Amino acid sequence: MKPPAPSASAGTSRRVPLRWRDEVGGVLISEQQIASRVRQLSRLIERDFRGREMVIVSLLTGTIMFLADLIRHISLPLRLDFIGVSSYGAGTKPGELIFTKELRLDVRARDVLLVDDILDTGRTMTHALKKLRSLKPRRIRTCVLLDKPARRVKKISADYVGFEIPDHFVVGYGLDFGERFRNLPFVGVLRRRVYETTVGSVSRQT
Ligand code: IMP
Ligand code: MG
Repeated sequence: MKPPAPSASAGTSRRVPLRWRDEVGGVLISEQQIASRVRQLSRLIERDFRGREMVIVSLLTGTIMFLADLIRHISLPLRLDFIGVSSYGAGTKPGELIFTKELRLDVRARDVLLVDDILDTGRTMTHALKKLRSLKPRRIRTCVLLDKPARRVKKISADYVGFEIPDHFVVGYGLDFGERFRNLPFVGVLRRRVYETTVGSVSRQT
């Protein structure tokens, strides 16, 4: 099923609160739009995983809000674990991915749902999937809140997608820029000058 593109709809707030307006140019997906789409995803997942030994593996840190909202509407027994993938580590080349937190639960013969905030180039998801597959789960399905297909370099798509978005740098609802903005309750577009004037690169845990 094709995920919806975010669109303006009646009754949803599209105004960026004054507090953020300097850095966040607009609301791309409102709180209300997120809430209703996340419920739909929960229902689809619930239907597909019924009767299975389900383990949800979530990527730190951007999934915090999405994950919390997603799982509260999945009425199935499930286990939850986290993995950390970071794009830079001390002494490693920029762009190289390293694991900053390993899985604790045994996923062998279980049905795994891998959750991330956004599928962008696809490198993070590809890296995490390779690792998961080596642990021999029965099945792996992937779920992302956002899909930004314009920048994809890996041949990968997710099984459950909240919204397909254009090539903007987005923040909020867990997504960060330099570890900030994760607490915004909506997904907003960061003003270009904010990321273009930041000097140096920030180590980013996805
Ligand atoms: P990928 O490896 O390029 O697919 O990107 C995955 C990670 O990059 C995501 O888990 C995010 O943490 C981060 N990322 C990619 N695009 C954005 C964005 O627009 N805003 C915030 N984080 C992003
Ligand atoms: Mg992430």
